[in-house]
Amino acid sequence: MDAQPTTPAPPPGCPAHQDGGRVPLYGPEFAADPQAYYSYLRHFGPTAPVELAPGVEATLVTDYATALQLLQDSGSFRKDARRWRDLNEGLVSPDSPVVPALAYRPNSMFSDGAEHLRLRQAITDSMARVDARKLTRTTEQVSEYLISQFGARGSADLLGDYARQLPLFVFNELFGCPADIGDRVLFGITGMFDGVNAERAVEVLFGAVGELVALKRARPGEDVTSWLMQHQARLTDEEMVHQVALLLGAGTDPLGNLIGNTLHRLLTDDRYADGGGLIDEALEDTLWDNPPMSNYAAHYPAADMEFAGQKFQAGDLVLVSFAAANTGPKLSAARQAGSNRSHLAWSAGPHACPSKEPARQITVTAIENLLNQLPDVEPSVPEDSLVWRPGPFNRGLVTLPARFTPVTTVRRTGSTQARPDTATRPQAGEAGRRRERGGMWSQFLNWLAK
Ligand code: HEM
Repeated sequence: MDAQPTTPAPPPGCPAHQDGGRVPLYGPEFAADPQAYYSYLRHFGPTAPVELAPGVEATLVTDYATALQLLQDSGSFRKDARRWRDLNEGLVSPDSPVVPALAYRPNSMFSDGAEHLRLRQAITDSMARVDARKLTRTTEQVSEYLISQFGARGSADLLGDYARQLPLFVFNELFGCPADIGDRVLFGITGMFDGVNAERAVEVLFGAVGELVALKRARPGEDVTSWLMQHQARLTDEEMVHQVALLLGAGTDPLGNLIGNTLHRLLTDDRYADGGGLIDEALEDTLWDNPPMSNYAAHYPAADMEFAGQKFQAGDLVLVSFAAANTGPKLSAARQAGSNRSHLAWSAGPHACPSKEPARQITVTAIENLLNQLPDVEPSVPEDSLVWRPGPFNRGLVTLPARFTPVTTVRRTGSTQARPDTATRPQAGEAGRRRERGGMWSQFLNWLAK
């Protein structure tokens, strides 16, 4: 263990003060200042004992080199969560708010070896068929639509009105979702990641995706859902539901937080005051210092073992802190030396994010378009009043209130070819259900058709 010589005090409010026990990665204190927690956790050495929710114990890797070693050693550390001993032995309640993000599902993220290769190949091949120009056009259209909804007000919550909504609309288009399914997907994913009424959220998400898969079996289109279905991996209906749910879950929430965290940085840090050309730089800095997935990559030792000076039993829950690994004091020299993209925000090894390029592209386009349309946009509340979402896995603001000179007309991205595929348009008979559920997607389609 390379523990430091003096033991720092736990951050203010941290219950580790009281009992010297595991450090909680949840609650308002953690959300307000996670870096104080990471500094404290580093005194344990490259790994530290944490609690992800009441009664859910884990080991967190906080050191960059140790994290890389774990992520690349798929023989010793497995992703299949059916190995999670504490859950199997009833020490963790299935009702815990963090269980939906950790429990096994038959998808690429929770599989190992040949099964992982097969599922991941289907995902990477299908995502590779997304046309980059069309993705930019769709993102611009969604951006313009969202801005048209709040532009005249001269004020907006850049999270709730923009960053969190934009990925959902873009994914609705990519996956060929009709309106009512898209609304339920949004509800399901947000609830699942916030850990609020998580069980219901998962139920809604899987119900909606099941309907989408059935729709595409009957009426395939030019969309990621149909391409996954047509892939030589020959996914069953159940596998389809789980891969689509994974893509939506792994894609939309972190993407909203990436747009939000990068916008927050651009609007509050003077280093980026020159605007436009610095979006790429702000994005990369965000991935280093404030990554949207802060602590995740759940792994389970395949056998009892020693790793990084610690003894592990088979089935122990081990997570990687991408946020702590990226910001470790030992790393700053290497970071300055120039390997600018060597952060772990997308993870590393066989399970690293397969979609970082489209994610980057959507983020840059969304921010570029917002800053072009609202050139004087600025935060409307003091920095210290901003609140970050609770929970151990994701890093994102609850709201980012902003003001700007009102805009009454918003430029429409011209091309009529960028219409959603006809297979994604709501069909006759869906109108009643659509209204019942808010009809956000159909309102967008109506706006596009004007
Ligand atoms: C277009 C949007 C995105 C899609 C479709 C997507 C999809 C995925 C998928 C399918 C996986 C699982 C890969 C596997 O297990 O083999 C994954 C993993 C991951 N993604 Fe993404 N992702 C997107 C955006 C993001 C963003 C914005 C971030 C944050 C910067 C992110 C960070 C990660 C990380 C850290 C992992 C590894 C998780 C783990 O090992 O537990 N992704 N992503």
